[in-house]
Amino acid sequence: MSQPLVVANWKMNPQKLKEAKEIASVSDEKNVVLCPPFVFLLEIKKILKKANTGAQNCFSKKRGAFTGEISPLMLKEAGCKYVILGHSERRELFEEDTKKIREKIALVLSVGISPIVCIGEKRKSRKNEEEVKKQLVGLLKGTSLKHIIVAYEPRFAIGTGNSCPLDVAKKRLFFIKKVLQDIEKKGEKTPVLYGGSVNAKNASLYIKDAGFQGLLIGGVSLKKESFSKLLKNVTK
Ligand code: 13P
Repeated sequence: MSQPLVVANWKMNPQKLKEAKEIASVSDEKNVVLCPPFVFLLEIKKILKKANTGAQNCFSKKRGAFTGEISPLMLKEAGCKYVILGHSERRELFEEDTKKIREKIALVLSVGISPIVCIGEKRKSRKNEEEVKKQLVGLLKGTSLKHIIVAYEPRFAIGTGNSCPLDVAKKRLFFIKKVLQDIEKKGEKTPVLYGGSVNAKNASLYIKDAGFQGLLIGGVSLKKESFSKLLKNVTK
């Protein structure tokens, strides 16, 4: 089996380039994707030998008068292979909706970058599966899944220390794969990552027991020791 993909979403951290470089240097593995803030992308890319870089967001247009925005063409130029789209923080804090995220997915694919498309229910409830299905279909129906990566991040597990119970995550993965297969015949081959309070201890369980193809990591990816321990645990 190929190594699980480990994507580090640093969010708006760290504040110093020196620290960003230190974290990058201990996580430079082939199966790792580092997603630093935009302003660190070029510097981080320069020091990596094996790991790839990704962005945490981008704009839905290639060029033009859009003050403060970043085009996927610029991300390509900066060496990004991936971009995280539709993260729950973008949806909740920056009012990104399905239509906007769909536009971004199409544009990112058109410039040759793989979108890491985030989905996940807001609350623990019986209707969760329907919410997850609605998000997946809304974002991906009619799109070729060939270069898509899906990240399942239940909102209640993000940054809380309460990761999704393994049996629930496993059930959800099965369901997501089924929906992906309904969207496209070979959809079950689309890699699905788990994200939400992953740490060095529980990381390998989501891969080996629940069957995810990788992880999307927030907080722990900023802690050098824990993150390198996590990487060792998921690859051994
Ligand atoms: P935490 O790992 O800090 O829960 O964050 C998850 C996340 O939002 C990654 O995108």
